[in-house]
Amino acid sequence: MHIVVSGGAGFLGSHLCEALLARGDRVTCVDNLSTGRTENLRTVEDHPRFRLVLADVTTWVADADDHVDAVAHLASAASPPDYHRMPLETLLVGSRGTENLLELADRHGARFVVASTSEVYGDPHVHPQREDYWGHVNPVGPRSVYDEAKRYAEAVSMAYARSRGTDVGIVRIFNTYGPRMRAVDGRVVTSFIAQALNGDALTIYGDGSQTRSFCYVDDLVRGLVAMLDSHETGPVNLGNPSERTVASLAELVVALSGSASDIEYHPLPQDDPTRRRPDITRAREVLGWTPTVGILDGLKRTVEWFAGRPEEVREAAEALTGGQPTGRDAVVTATPVDALADHVIVARGDSGPSTRLDERLAARPAA
Ligand SMILES: NC(=O)c1ccc[n+]([C@@H]2O[C@H](COP(=O)([O-])OP(=O)(O)OC[C@H]3O[C@@H](n4cnc5c(N)ncnc54)[C@H](O)[C@@H]3O)[C@@H](O)[C@H]2O)c1
Repeated sequence: MHIVVSGGAGFLGSHLCEALLARGDRVTCVDNLSTGRTENLRTVEDHPRFRLVLADVTTWVADADDHVDAVAHLASAASPPDYHRMPLETLLVGSRGTENLLELADRHGARFVVASTSEVYGDPHVHPQREDYWGHVNPVGPRSVYDEAKRYAEAVSMAYARSRGTDVGIVRIFNTYGPRMRAVDGRVVTSFIAQALNGDALTIYGDGSQTRSFCYVDDLVRGLVAMLDSHETGPVNLGNPSERTVASLAELVVALSGSASDIEYHPLPQDDPTRRRPDITRAREVLGWTPTVGILDGLKRTVEWFAGRPEEVREAAEALTGGQPTGRDAVVTATPVDALADHVIVARGDSGPSTRLDERLAARPAA
């Protein structure tokens, strides 16, 4: 199968590209590197069935003659510092970006899977969250650029399914963690790991009694692949239902990092959900999916991965001093979007020199 993965240079997208190539698919990754990074693609960049199209999906038009069997639409800023820094881009990729990729899928009669989020439930009044719960979202709050973009992405996907018969699938992803997250992405797991490895105090917002459930990336990617292979419309929750408080997560990270870090408490940001846990009955029934990696094992692998990146950890810990990175101070290692005059294919597995993707990018004539 030929599968287009938007956001394929990001955390989840790069693992998805890897999994699809491993089972024999051909993958076109479309990414503008706004929060993704080429080093995430190290394991696939020279694969003969992989190519990267450097493009913004809000304007990208795919090659007409290259048949597409499925589209996995993951492109979007995903962490609060990122979407606060790029509010309009976040709304645009959820709206126009989703429409463009739905058009592509519709044109090719392809399967279309959109990565939605547990944020569509907002600060939920129903617990655990089932797919038939409509949510409790503040449409004008600071998180609304992300939440409402994803709600629109779901709505427009359903409109294509109903009016055009597009083979749409919606997955609502709950907190996922693992190697290739950015230490500075402002998510709770990465922030705690960066602080613990740097020997700094871990920052908890609120009293730490708010709960989250954390899914290891390998499990999540298995769920995404199962959704791509099915004709299930969803929405389907994908996440690990094992719930824990943020305070207990902090203690676990300190223990696994072998660190002596203290824990500091800061005021809870506005609209921060107090409880989050997926009901995954539907995923079990329609996809036969269930997560298998426990938090201890998953966190251990993640801590080990970050321990091998001391420079990134140090920079992140510095940015976190005194609180969560904001849109302004988040360190972003990305290529500026305005450097992408038009979409450029920078890696095509079946041709071209076998140099590192970074080198090929650097050698590219200026836009
Ligand atoms: N990681 C999680 O816990 C989680 C939870 C819920 C939902 N999701 C969703 O899963 C998807 C992937 O999340 P992630 O954690 O891998 O985030 P990420 O930031 O690592 O990856 C997102 C990717 O999309 C790319 N991108 C953004 N805007 C783009 C545009 N206009 N054109 C082309 N590429 C663009 C970025 O460069 C990046 O590579 C997102 O849609 C996110 O909303 C993730």
